[in-house]
Formats: sequence, structure tokens, C-alpha cells
Amino acid sequence: MRKIAIINLKGGVGKTTCTVNIAFALAAKEKRILLIDLDPQANLSLSLFAAGEKTAYDLLINETHVSECLFKYNDFVDIIPSKDLDKAELAMAGLPNRENILKKALEPVFNYDFVFIDCPPSNSLLNYNALLYANEAFVPVSTDYLGITGLRKVIEMVESVKKAFGHPISITGVIPTMFDQRSKACKESLAEINKGFNGEVLSEIRVNSTLKEVPKKGVSIFEYDKSSRGAKDYMKIAEEILDSRFQYF
Ligand SMILES: Nc1ncnc2c1ncn2[C@@H]1O[C@H](COP(=O)(O)OP(=O)(O)OP(=O)(O)O)[C@@H](O)[C@H]1O
Ligand SMILES: [Mg+2]
Repeated sequence: MRKIAIINLKGGVGKTTCTVNIAFALAAKEKRILLIDLDPQANLSLSLFAAGEKTAYDLLINETHVSECLFKYNDFVDIIPSKDLDKAELAMAGLPNRENILKKALEPVFNYDFVFIDCPPSNSLLNYNALLYANEAFVPVSTDYLGITGLRKVIEMVESVKKAFGHPISITGVIPTMFDQRSKACKESLAEINKGFNGEVLSEIRVNSTLKEVPKKGVSIFEYDKSSRGAKDYMKIAEEILDSRFQYF
């Protein structure tokens, strides 16, 4: 089971879009997926109409068993929806071993091929919890002038978590997002990303207006328009993830 945090401290770079569409591309290949919405903004939950009696709040704060917090989206995808995670984070701050609350709560989880965590855009306790559960981080990076600075910050954060907690985690994929072939800034930024990251840079996700329309439909791009650029780009990434030359955990 691969445990992957999708993280960048920079906002609006495509974290949630990557989480949803990589997950559903893998589900189309019959992989079993658990999606965890760890962002107080709840964008992933809102865009998949995922809600339930019990949520990530209950998992983290009320010690509710993880099996009760699952929203069953379809045969291949389960979701732990986000609700009141800003309040959860405040409550967690006073708890012992506060950085490992998610890891402990997810101990009973083993029957998925992939667990993906959609992380908030902040240097927060929720993100430390995500990184201390995961063994891998995927970093969506916007292909613009400031994208590379966001990538450097995440590399620093992951390294500091690794050192401070002795936790095995690596950035196993950087995903260039919002790529526009006609833009000089995008091409320069992509070159910078390739130069600045000494690891696997997955294929770029092109700018695609269909990706902007999908969240209000409650489905992934594959159910909405599988011939769109967005669907093709995310399917290619899923294939790269499965074909990865590297074996992780
Ligand atoms: N390839 C793309 N082309 C066009 N629009 C995109 C693309 N990817 C994402 N978007 C849009 O950009 C916006 C930000 O994307 P998204 O919500 O995935 O970013 P995020 O990093 O999760 O943001 P936040 O930091 O707020 O959680 C959304 O409106 C989304 O629909
Ligand atoms: Mg998001």
C-alpha cells in the first residue's frame, strides 16, 4: 500500500485537482484508493460531494474508528471527508504526540493500493500529521515564475520532518501543473523544475478549462469528459506512477 501526501505550501497550484484525478485515473485501472481530505477548506470533499455522519474530525479528535469515517464513493474509491478541520487542528495542538495522531488513527488501514492525502497550503500541524503518516510526497508545482520557490520550500519541509522525527519519507514525484506550451514563462519554469529537483518529475498537466468545470459536478474528469486534455494528462501520470522505475515502500 503506497501512502502519499499531495503537498505544497503554496496555494492554488493544483493539489486538490491532482489528488482527485490521479486517484480516479488509478481507480479506472482497478486500483483501490483511499482519499483523505485533510484541508479545512474541504475542496476535495466539496468537489466529490463527499459528506457523512463521521468525518476526518471524528477520526482525529473523537477516536472514531476509521471504518466509520469512510464515505464510499464507488467500488474502488473511499473518501474520508473534511469537516471542521480548523477546529480539529486547534484541539490537536494540546494533545500528546500531536504530530502522529493521523498515523495512529490510520493503523487499521491496509486494504488499499494507494492512500492519498490532499494537504492544506500551510506549514501546519495537519501537514505534519500527513507527512508522518505518508512515506511518499507528490508535489504539484505550478509552471510559473514562483513555482520553483514553492518546490524548494516543500523539499526543506520534508527534509526537516525526516530529520526531526526519523521518519522515512521522500518526494517521489513532482508534478508540473497549469502548463501552457505557448508561454515562455511556463517553458522556463519547467526547465527550472527539472534542473532544481533531483528526482522523478512526472509529465506536465496542461492548462485545461474542463478541469475548472468539473468540481461543481461531483465527479472526476474521467466521468465528466474523458476525451479532454485534462483526462489524458492525468491518465498519463497514473501510468507513469504505475510504471515507475523506482520501487518505493
Ligand atoms: N490544469 C489546470 N488547468 C486549468 N485550471 C486548473 C488546472 N488545475 C487546476 N485548475 C484550477 O485551479 C484552481 C486551483 O486548483 P486546486 O484547487 O486544485 O489547487 P490547490 O493547490 O488544491 O489549492 P489550495 O491551495 O487552495 O488547496 C481550481 O479552480 C482548479 O479548478
Ligand atoms: Mg486544495
